[in-house]
Amino acid sequence: MKLAASILAADFTRLGEQIAACEAAGADWIHIDVMDGRFVPNITMGPLVVEAARRSTRLPLDVHLMIVEPEHYLADFAQAGADGLTVQVEACPNLHRTLQQIKELGKRAGIALNPATPAVAVGEVLDMADLLLPMTVNPGFGGQQFLPAVLHKVRQLSRWVAERQLSVDIEVDGGIEPETAPLTKAAGATVMVVGSGVFRTGLSIAESVARLRQSVADA
Ligand code: DX5
Ligand code: ZN
Repeated sequence: MKLAASILAADFTRLGEQIAACEAAGADWIHIDVMDGRFVPNITMGPLVVEAARRSTRLPLDVHLMIVEPEHYLADFAQAGADGLTVQVEACPNLHRTLQQIKELGKRAGIALNPATPAVAVGEVLDMADLLLPMTVNPGFGGQQFLPAVLHKVRQLSRWVAERQLSVDIEVDGGIEPETAPLTKAAGATVMVVGSGVFRTGLSIAESVARLRQSVADA
């Protein structure tokens, strides 16, 4: 399973250092949560921070857009150095076109689904996605509790991907810790996004990453 470290939980006074520590610890991707105070009740970061992260690491930048009308900002985030752009299906009335735009920018296209959104919402565009992200918390904040009810959707999406012989990552995001990560792997997840479980454990970043890896080693 790949590990994407979510910098939402990082110490922003030392962001570059913390990203470098994630890379040294063997994280696979850096996950960047963009929130606009409209799609979710919180405001976080924009292209400026993506651009700073780009200068701190060679790891792929996995940008999660929790914003309304993401189509207006895709080019800005691509320009800032994003490798993957994930939009929320609920924010995209013209999802097919939005995915086309991401592809035209040469980026990996991701679709996130809120806990209340059924898997069928992405059924018609599965073959256009590089990544599906069934959210395991309601988006907006780090440090929330994992919602086990989402596991069936992880299983359903990974079954569809296998049946159609697609090469699509299934990412989980929210409340991922050594206790919950193995459940998501068993359900078919291929990428875990981890914020608190990397940056706020009381352990070093390296120890936290190792503990997460260990937890899924034989799941
Ligand atoms: C939540 C964000 C997550 C968040 C996860 O809306 O999409 O990426 O950083 O944080 P943890 O791992 O603390 O639940
Ligand atoms: Zn996220």
